[in-house]
Formats: sequence, structure tokens, C-alpha cells
Amino acid sequence: MKNTVADIQHLKKNSAPFSTVTVYDYPTSLIINDTNIPMVLVGDSASMVVYGYDNTIPITMDELILITKSVNRGIQKALIVADMPFMSYQPSTEAAIKNAGQLIKFGGADAIKLEGGREYVDRIEKIIESGVPVMGHLGLKPQSILTDSGYKIHGKNTIDAMRIYKDALALEKAGVFAIVLEGVPIELAEIITQKVQIPTVGIGAGNKCDGQIQVFHDLIGAFNQKIPKHAKKYINNYEIIKEALVNYCDQVENKIFPHKINAVKMDSNELKSLQKNIEDT
Ligand code: KIV
Repeated sequence: MKNTVADIQHLKKNSAPFSTVTVYDYPTSLIINDTNIPMVLVGDSASMVVYGYDNTIPITMDELILITKSVNRGIQKALIVADMPFMSYQPSTEAAIKNAGQLIKFGGADAIKLEGGREYVDRIEKIIESGVPVMGHLGLKPQSILTDSGYKIHGKNTIDAMRIYKDALALEKAGVFAIVLEGVPIELAEIITQKVQIPTVGIGAGNKCDGQIQVFHDLIGAFNQKIPKHAKKYINNYEIIKEALVNYCDQVENKIFPHKINAVKMDSNELKSLQKNIEDT
């Protein structure tokens, strides 16, 4: 049975910490089915880790819907949250409702996530009214790197921390079912987590949130580069895959692969007949 937003909220009520991860394709979704991960995010981080852009600004609705569809075909139980790309909700409430609806209707997502606080409460309420569950995202908002002058920790001083705290309360009041807290001090994450009834999901926010989220490619070591401070490389997939490819290449160049078991043999009579046919032509 598919998880619902209520199932995710029950985890907080039962004081059960939970993990969430970004996912962008069908094969990874099948692996998720074999884990205890209750919720996945088709993140706009796909802009970088799937499509190779420099940041999350360029990814489009079409690009996000395409990968959400493939995740939807694979995931059996986990709740699928899809990110609203940059400029899919900022321009107007109408655009926000329409694009949220597309991620659900065409992408097959179960909920959407968008970045921002009180400035987007009107849009969030209307999206929820239209039947789409919303997850909030506060603190470091990667879609705001142009106005925020880059990636930095937010909420380090009282004024900024109060702003994020009030945003969290406003999002809860607006009806979001959970809030991602990205790049905020652990103390602020803890204060918000204790105050709100809905789950907080941390990334770069310490271990006091109700759940954690990581970018899949950081976690599996997909790239041969330093990962952010908040991430943990559980496996060095770059090296493992590189070794496999180097090995494959080497075996082909040395005529070792394909092996006998990889080849199909013709029936000997058919082969003789073929050879005779060729001779006769
Ligand atoms: O797009 C993403 O991967 C995210 C997570 C970092 C929360 O928004």
C-alpha cells in the first residue's frame, strides 16, 4: 500500500526518526522499494546531478515531469514528493496551481515541494485547496542563490532565525504536511521541530529534525568530487563503476569478453546448411 502524507506525519507522532532521499529514475526507485525509506523526493537537484547544469535554476517543468514519471513507475510504497522548479510557482497563484497539478497528474507525484515562507502562503493554501499536498522548504533555498549571493547557512543570528521560525509557523498554519529545513543551525532546527506538529526533514540542519534527507548522488558517491559538509558518502560508486568500465573496456580490447556463455551457437545442421547455401550463391 502506498504511503500517504498522514503516514509520514504519524512517524513524528510516534517519535520515529525517518530517512528520505532524492530519486530521479526507475532503477533507483526499485532499490528504494527494498528499503525502509518512507518518502522520496524528485528534487530539482536533478538540474545538477542528472542534467549537468550548474545549479537548480535552469531545470524546467518538462524535465522534472519526465523523471518524476520514471520514479512513479518504479516506486511501490514510498510517498513521492516532486519539487516545483524555479519559476513554476513564483510568478502567480494560477501558475503555482497549474504546475503543481501537472506534477501530480502527468508526473504521478503524490505531493509537491516548494521553497519559501510567508511570501508564498497564499499560493500554498490554494495548491492544497486544489487537492495537492505541499511540503515546505526553509533555510537555505537553492532557488534563491542569485538574491542570496550563493549557498550559505541561514538563521545564524536572532533576526534571521526569527524570520525562519515565523515562516515555519506560517507554513504549518497554511497546511503543509512537512517542512524541509536546509542549512540552518542545529539549535534553530530543534526549536522549530519541537514547536511544529508536522515533521521537519533536515539537510545540513543537524540531527534534531524528525527526518533527514540526502541527495542520492552524494550518498552513493556518484561523482569524483568533494561532497558538501552536510552529506555523507556511504559508498564510492564513482570508483566502483569506473573499475567495472575499465575492466569491460580492457576485456573487449583483449578479446576476453564476450565469454562463451554470452554467445549463442547455431544448430550444427543449420550451420552446415547455411555454409552450403553461401557456397552455392
Ligand atoms: O532538490 C533537492 O535535492 C532538495 C533537497 C536538498 C531537500 O530540495
